[in-house]
Amino acid sequence: MPYKLLFVCLGNICRSPSAENIMNHLIDQAGLSNSIVCDSAGTSSYHIGSQPDRRMSAAAVAKLGIQLRGRARQFAKSDFQEFDMILAMDRDNYDDILALDPTGKYHDKVHLMCEFCTRHNLKEVPDPYYGGVEGFNQVIDLLVDACESLLQHIVNLQVSA
Ligand code: 4NP
Repeated sequence: MPYKLLFVCLGNICRSPSAENIMNHLIDQAGLSNSIVCDSAGTSSYHIGSQPDRRMSAAAVAKLGIQLRGRARQFAKSDFQEFDMILAMDRDNYDDILALDPTGKYHDKVHLMCEFCTRHNLKEVPDPYYGGVEGFNQVIDLLVDACESLLQHIVNLQVSA
């Protein structure tokens, strides 16, 4: 059974699709496509069915040469069972996810993405939606950092399992 990761932000058109596609890129490079699978979702319903934001896609192409694929969907309670680890981009996302798990059964599956950053000190991936191009570039930098050590973390889990 593959290890299943879900990246979550507010709209599922900027940060979480970037995380999903960056992680898939690293997984492909590591030859682990059969062992780890990724998806993303938004806590809101605002952009259901939309493709990633053009500004986010432009940053991913410019900085990494990666095309962002996927369509936005909303986080669902069934995702708690479906996924092994759920990565929230910011504290609001984290709180909104945990609010859907009132008994705390799945609490241990939910993490802040920046817990995995090793080169950056920010605790959250800032929402770039209402800002300029630098915000989108910063999202890419933070996510590359977090995804690299998240991948290492999962590989270590699988080795010790
Ligand atoms: P995301 O960015 O949560 O990283 O996808 C946003 C996208 C849309 C909105 C806010 C943040 N919005 O308010 O519509």
